[in-house]
Formats: sequence, C-alpha cells, structure tokens
Amino acid sequence: MNATVKPGKKHFPVLLNEIVSIISPLYSGTFIDCTFGQGEYTKEILKNPKNKVIAIDRDNKTIDIAKNIKEKFKDRFSFKNIRFSEINNIDVNKKDIKGIIFDLGYSTNQIKDPEKGLSFNSTGKLNMQMGLNDFSAHQVINNLDQQHLEKIFKYFGEEKNSKVISRKICEIRENKNIKTEDLVILINKNKFNKNSKIHKATKIFQALRIFVNKEISELLYGLINAFNILPIGGIVVVVSFHSIEDKIVKFFFKNYSQTKNLSRYLPEQNKEKKLFKLINSKPIFPSEREKKRNPSSRSAKLRYAIKTSHSENFDVFIKQFKYLIDIENLSKKIWKNFFMDFC
Ligand SMILES: C[S@@+](CC[C@H](N)C(=O)[O-])C[C@H]1O[C@@H](n2cnc3c(N)ncnc32)[C@H](O)[C@@H]1O
Repeated sequence: MNATVKPGKKHFPVLLNEIVSIISPLYSGTFIDCTFGQGEYTKEILKNPKNKVIAIDRDNKTIDIAKNIKEKFKDRFSFKNIRFSEINNIDVNKKDIKGIIFDLGYSTNQIKDPEKGLSFNSTGKLNMQMGLNDFSAHQVINNLDQQHLEKIFKYFGEEKNSKVISRKICEIRENKNIKTEDLVILINKNKFNKNSKIHKATKIFQALRIFVNKEISELLYGLINAFNILPIGGIVVVVSFHSIEDKIVKFFFKNYSQTKNLSRYLPEQNKEKKLFKLINSKPIFPSEREKKRNPSSRSAKLRYAIKTSHSENFDVFIKQFKYLIDIENLSKKIWKNFFMDFC
C-alpha cells in the first residue's frame, strides 16, 4: 500500500470479492487469516455459517477488533497475536484447514496511527514497527553505518539514490537525531526524479519498513510454514503490494507448481516433485472500479495455488532469496555491538 493517506479515510479490504470467489468452492472448513488487520476478510469468510477462522496479526492494536468478532462468532473464531512466520506453532487440526490467506503490507489504520510513523506525513521519532519487533526505524537511521543503510535502501527500496541518501543521513546525525520530518526533507533535497508520480520518500520508507519488520524472512517462512501445515487440496492465497513481495510469491508458486504436459514416459527420477497446482499463471489485479474507489489497491496482485503434494525441504526457495535474508540479518551482529555500547 502507499504510505500516504488522507485523514478520515477508512480501510477498504483489497480484492475481497475475488478472494471469496476463489475460496468458496472449497466449501466449509477452517481458514487461517494470516493478516487479520481490521478483520474484513475474516468477517466475510465467517458469513458462511459452516466456516471457522483462525486469525493472526502481529499488531496488538488488532486485539480489540478480534475481541468484538469473538463475541459475535464465539467458537467459530480465534485470534493469535503472533507473526505469521510462526503459523506452524498454532494449535489446529491440520486436516480441517481449507485455506491460508495473506494480505501483505499494512492497514489504513496503521498508516493513520501517528505512533507507528509509517507515513511521510508523520512527525517526531521514527518508528515503523508493526508489532513484535526487535528494533525501530529510529535505531536504524540513527545507528547503522552508511554501508548497511545503502544496502537496505538499494535492495529493499530499489532506490537509485541510495548512496547519496545514506551518506547525507550519516552526516546529519552527527549533530542531531534524525526524526521522520528530517528524513523526508533530506530525501526531498537529495533525489532528483522530477517526473516521478510517486512521493520521493516512498522507496526509502518502504525499505525501512521491510527491514524493521523483517518482511522478507516473514514472507519466506510464512509461506513455507503455511505450506507445511496445509493438507493436500488446501489453498494458499496471497495479495502482495510491491515488486519484491510479488517476486517471492511468484517464485514460490511457479517453481513448485505442477508442470503441465510433463511426459508420463519420463523416468520417475527425472520428474521433479511438484507441490502445487497453479490455477492461473498470471496474477489477478483489482478491477478499474476497485482502483477508483480505493486508490491504495492499485499496486495489489493476487496469486493462489492448491497444494498437491508434501515436501521435505525448500532449499531452492531459500537459496533464491538468501541475498535479501542476509541483509535483514546484517542487523544481528551490528545490533549486538550497538546494544552493548548502549547498555
Ligand atoms: C493489509 S492489512 C490486512 C487487512 C485485512 N485483510 C482486513 O481485511 O482488514 C495487513 C495486516 O497484516 C499484519 N501483518 C503484516 N505482517 C505480518 C506478519 N508478519 N505477521 C502477522 N501479521 C502481519 C499487519 O499488522 C496488518 O494488520
């Protein structure tokens, strides 16, 4: 989703009708909503009286919304305030699971929350923690060395001006802690993309958010663990909002999906084990009507696949995105040093 939001704007669930039409033919059962948010997907799924929902969200501000839904739907609904990478730890009868749904990114309520500081319009201390984090954007911007900042901006934001922006950050913070408004001014001064339709700070804010929330590892292990708890015939549905997320989801589904026209005469050992049946090889996009009604939906892409076989490992998948996981894990060593100085 875009990181600017007009005051008073409400959260519209993205691609909701499309998701309902994908999961409805699976009939009744348990669905896991990995990104509960305002509970709009959950409420829609619970409209079928035979469905149950287990909802997950890392943001503890969603607990109250979950409590209201629990009051209404009783034992058809439960909620866990955990990260979805830990989905394999939830207590569920695996054979009852029909589908697992991810609606990545953040909700309108989170962008509007000044404490979270996800918007360029926020002021004050940088934060960007969605919930259950180890560190904030304030710590990243005001402590990580130039080389690491540059990598984060380049790989998580695909920002062409990563070098100059990270250098300026290091210069300015020698005299003061950088706040949200300082970062926006600094980016505006040091980016020269006059013709861009997006706000100059979009890519740097996206990069910081991904790093602070470890969104790459969350998505990789979320998908793997979702696959592992899903019975054969179950469905995984993912709505992504930026190209890095979509690259990961696309690789996961395509690399492990059934190869059409695979010759049955091939020797068994030559046939790579395929784990999914992919219904559409192309993503589903919001309609023009939805984009007009909810401009935040314009970058959304929906992909889904049905599990057809079990797997022992996902080494190829992890290896493909190791360069991104390594950037997220850069922090471990650096933070250790930082926190030791800090204590
Ligand atoms: C786009 S909103 C989902 C909106 C939701 N589909 C609805 O109908 O209201 C994304 C939500 O996912 C949560 N989230 C993002 N990453 C997460 C993660 N790794 N684990 C658990 N929740 C996560 C965010 O806190 C946010 O509430």
